[in-house]
Amino acid sequence: MVDGELEAFLSETRSFAPSSDFSAQANAQPSIYEEAAADPEAWWAQQARRLTWDVEPTTALEWTPPFATWFADGRLNASVNCVDRHVEAGHGDRVAFHWVGEPEDDTLDVTYADLLARVSRAAHALTELGVRAGDRVAIYMPMIPEAVTAMLACARVGAAHSVIFGGFASEALVDRILDADCTFVITADGGYRRGVASPLKAQVDAAVERCAGVRGVLVVRRTGQDVAWHEGRDHWWHEVVDRQSPVHVPESFPAEQPLFLMYTSGTTARPKGILHTTAGYLTHAVTTHYYVFDVKPESDVCWTSADIGWITGHTYIVYGPLANGVTQVLYEGTPDAGGRDRWWRIVERYKVTILYTAPTAIRTLMKWGADLPQAHDLSSLRLLGSVGEPINPEAWMWYREYVGQNRCPIVDTWWQTETGGIMVTPLPGITHTKPGAASAAFPGISVDVVDNEGASVGNGEGGYLTLSAPWPGMTRGIWGDPERFQETYWSRFEGRYFAGDGAKRDDDGDLWLLGRVDDVMNISGHRLSTTEVEHALVGHDGVAEAAVVGASDETTGQAIVAFVTLTLRADEDGVSHEEIIADLRDHVARVISPIARPRQIVITPDLPKTRSGKIMRRLLRDVAEHRALGDVTTLTDPSIVGVIDTLMGQHGNDDE
Ligand code: WTA
Repeated sequence: MVDGELEAFLSETRSFAPSSDFSAQANAQPSIYEEAAADPEAWWAQQARRLTWDVEPTTALEWTPPFATWFADGRLNASVNCVDRHVEAGHGDRVAFHWVGEPEDDTLDVTYADLLARVSRAAHALTELGVRAGDRVAIYMPMIPEAVTAMLACARVGAAHSVIFGGFASEALVDRILDADCTFVITADGGYRRGVASPLKAQVDAAVERCAGVRGVLVVRRTGQDVAWHEGRDHWWHEVVDRQSPVHVPESFPAEQPLFLMYTSGTTARPKGILHTTAGYLTHAVTTHYYVFDVKPESDVCWTSADIGWITGHTYIVYGPLANGVTQVLYEGTPDAGGRDRWWRIVERYKVTILYTAPTAIRTLMKWGADLPQAHDLSSLRLLGSVGEPINPEAWMWYREYVGQNRCPIVDTWWQTETGGIMVTPLPGITHTKPGAASAAFPGISVDVVDNEGASVGNGEGGYLTLSAPWPGMTRGIWGDPERFQETYWSRFEGRYFAGDGAKRDDDGDLWLLGRVDDVMNISGHRLSTTEVEHALVGHDGVAEAAVVGASDETTGQAIVAFVTLTLRADEDGVSHEEIIADLRDHVARVISPIARPRQIVITPDLPKTRSGKIMRRLLRDVAEHRALGDVTTLTDPSIVGVIDTLMGQHGNDDE
């Protein structure tokens, strides 16, 4: 559809009704909303029965704001819920994962019985290597079956995993390992990225040198590249894990046993360790996965295209789908590895029924052209999902038309690392869907859009998204920093969780998410804070000051634009500004991750500051987005914004 047509279409047909075929078979029935609203706590307690317990809980929510526990006197084992119980129920032959490696034809089907043997062996190995319940284990791996096995093996022995995205550099590893006091690291020699074997073990080696608490490193051989070896500390997976018994008697743990930490960017330079515990999180994961994706474990093939290094991979590749016993695709590579139709070939080959991905991926696939999906048989698809960023109506419509063939409902799901699972979403078969709207709170979840003073806004108005009651998957806090948890989420509005997102209710009362209202950027669905990137930039000895903003970008949603002033030394060194800029962009990629590489860096003589010395990022964002400038009268030097605007046009160093 061309632009004008899309607008005309949207103004006429603003919503799609669920098809009666879908509704007739849907897991969720319309009464679900009332049932949950009547007594949310009781409703969640009912959902908790989806889990297999060693000791059934007699309690649900215990709430001492801002700290909640759920089902606290129950006992269970998360890995038993994801694996053993399906084998015991006679589904051992069902495929858990169709694993698809990045190199063509590098594939492996792992059944639930296989997965049980793998997790059992890995659990024995972790115990042999000294990992104990209550420890923290860092996992830094590519998207290979061992990554899932490693997570589940940690859960099985009661150790909390902290998965660190394989794209992060060793610096990021150090911060996360030290903050959580990880005593053990699981990694691989390397991983594949567009045909190139990238090193992972080398990054771990560099990091662990600075982390005295790490006693052991377990290494999967994935690429066969040479790695340095530290006798006594390093162990090959194939040597230690493979010789273990495939039978492992699981221990049972309290409902509130820490299950994992997931580090995410906030508004400060230091990422925070978001803590999730076992039973509440699993209840949330399994319930939302069941209703939002309408899964039928006997017949569905789910594919969540996220990396397990992010929360989406945790909840909708590992814990939700496995606890529901479904079959999935686990794909190692990028969408264009082996050709731009790689995804569609995978959907066709494995008859994927449910596809869950991010708007950035959709916009990229859209750029590559509709003829690619059209050249493949995508008739197996029956439901599509979106997550991670606001989805623009145009991308939504393309997804519906060319991927979903105007047949598949689309669920635009809003949630966060902190919420553990989906919070705002349509329910397929029940909800009308609108291109770009996340629609409504999930049953049992209380969402409120409020104004500056915390008063609920009416239909047709915008404000801040808040959550007004605790939910099972809610983070139990920031690792080692309870005050920061209170301060960041529970202080802005009395008694409410402040998500950091803007939202509006349309005239029908449906929810639309409008993006972050704080200093958190969203680059291709990845969260990064402006301060984190600024911190990396000023860590370079050529940089005196830095200000970073997220500017809107057609493909990645937002892109990083940085404004820097140089130290005298840098300006005198006889190096050109172009060279400095190239060096700085690489520096940020190295220190944080390639996803943090600024799209553009502008070298400026000064930054716009108020008289109290505060950098006015709002103005820089106007400059970066080529908008008319806001009020500049509070600046010490109002003329600087004009100077920066001119410089911005000169440094056209977009990353293509
Ligand atoms: C954004 C990812 C609009 C939002 C699961 C949130 C979204 C942040 C949506 C959390 C959506 C996520 N529509 N925005 N459907 N989903 N976001 O922690 O700004 O990586 O606060 O969790 O992503 O990112 P996180």
